[in-house]
Amino acid sequence: MPTASDIVLEAAGIEKSFPGVRALDGVALRVRAGRLVALLGENGAGKSTLMNILSGVYPPDAGTIRLDGREVRFANPREAQALGIGIVHQELNLVRYLSVAENIFLGREPLTVTGLIDYRKLHADTAAVLKRLDLAVAPGTLVADLRVGQQQVVEIARAVSAEARVLILDEPTSSLSAHEVEVLFGVIAELKSRGVAIIYITHKFEELARVCDDVTIMRDGRVVGEALLTELTRDAIVRQMAGREAKEVFQKSPAVLGSEILRADEITLPGEGAGRPFLVEKVSLSLRRGEVLGVFGLVGAGRTELLETLFGLHPERSTGRVSVNGQAVNFTSPRDAIAAGLALAPEDRKRDGLVLPMSVAANASLASLDRTLRGGLVSESREAAYITPYIERFRVKTPSLHQLIVNLSGGNQQKVILAKWLATSPKILLLDEPTRGIDVNAKREIYAFIDELARAGLGLVVVSSELPEILALSDRVMVLCEGRKTAEFSRADATPERVLHAALPDLAAIVS
Ligand SMILES: Nc1ncnc2c1ncn2[C@@H]1O[C@H](COP(=O)(O)OP(=O)(O)OP(=O)(O)O)[C@@H](O)[C@H]1O
Ligand SMILES: [Mg+2]
Repeated sequence: MPTASDIVLEAAGIEKSFPGVRALDGVALRVRAGRLVALLGENGAGKSTLMNILSGVYPPDAGTIRLDGREVRFANPREAQALGIGIVHQELNLVRYLSVAENIFLGREPLTVTGLIDYRKLHADTAAVLKRLDLAVAPGTLVADLRVGQQQVVEIARAVSAEARVLILDEPTSSLSAHEVEVLFGVIAELKSRGVAIIYITHKFEELARVCDDVTIMRDGRVVGEALLTELTRDAIVRQMAGREAKEVFQKSPAVLGSEILRADEITLPGEGAGRPFLVEKVSLSLRRGEVLGVFGLVGAGRTELLETLFGLHPERSTGRVSVNGQAVNFTSPRDAIAAGLALAPEDRKRDGLVLPMSVAANASLASLDRTLRGGLVSESREAAYITPYIERFRVKTPSLHQLIVNLSGGNQQKVILAKWLATSPKILLLDEPTRGIDVNAKREIYAFIDELARAGLGLVVVSSELPEILALSDRVMVLCEGRKTAEFSRADATPERVLHAALPDLAAIVS
């Protein structure tokens, strides 16, 4: 049993308000040496805000933080880091046009005797930490040239290399491949054995059994439960997160299929530069009204690129034929695709989804400008009237429609992306990882909504790397592996084993 003397970090009575939002209302948290506490809670519960306070991003309005029993105050993140608190933020925080090495050691670069940056040591130290995280990229590579999952590993490398005593990981696996997740879990085990205290935020319950010792559950800015993981059931966690009984599990309604609404033949997208010659290679698909086509594949399988190509995002490079409602189409931009009734809700919310310095209302109506313009200008009242039902439908947690989107919690930003694309009233909806960063209860609501849209006669293509999600939602499952379609299953035939098998490039190599 852990004892009080193991407590490395202790926060008590933490309060934090933002205009219109009481984000933290008297929160206490304890973290012990060599143990991992999972911090759970619905979207907007206050998890990231608490972590921002513990890592010096904001001062609390009230409350204390103690490190080894001594009260500390951080004027900025650098002071927290100097005292041994490392953090991997929920949103990527790298300088895109610096190298991997420069990012990892930013602000603490090794210097030569003459006071210049010692690049030789910088690169050697970087190579060592990258090896620990099994990331095969050169230290001099620009971060902008890495894929999102690799950037996430670089962030983890930065926190790990600082030899923190308290390590905060805020949804660290949201864009990692299965292999990268395994490596991270290995590093976590090693850090725990060396006495590092870890705070871990996740919406993926299956991760808990792998890494977690203690659980703290937050709701509406308060801590509502603390226990050992072994004392809790999944249902008990969900109930405490929501403050009510868990609703029934999602049940897909039987599909009522109409005519073919989308057809694609031999879609091909060549790669750029080094790497695979084809990101998508001769993929064909057919989608009917009322149908949900699930696309499963591991990170890097070409799922996102397939959706992007269908949506007219790669007109110069891609080849293949697409028809909508039996009519051949040739989209030269997403504008053409939107006009033909398509919508694509992308996975990477910072890059293509949202305009951070704009309001919730402006972001949500950005793809439906034709409905909110008056005399060539956006009418705020029309915008609000048009978008409100969608914001309510997804229960976006925001003090008002005028709140800047950057101030919403990660999961609530994701909900705004879904609202934005639904507001275009599409006939064909392409969803790329629609529930990334969404809490368990909200996930079920989104599944029910996808089901409702299909019943209303839309055709939907849903990409996900979560197999249970694909199996729950889809009428048909298509599997991609390394850019190629490797299998297609009806709902009845789509067993987890079959789908996974088709998604893995070389089963033997992974099992051994
Ligand atoms: N800088 C800010 N300005 C205004 N409001 C903020 C700010 N940061 C957070 N909030 C609000 O505080 C509340 C808690 O947000 P927080 O990001 O801590 O939630 P979370 O538990 O991390 O949720 P998620 O699981 O979606 O990431 C939300 O209502 C959010 O909109
Ligand atoms: Mg968060």
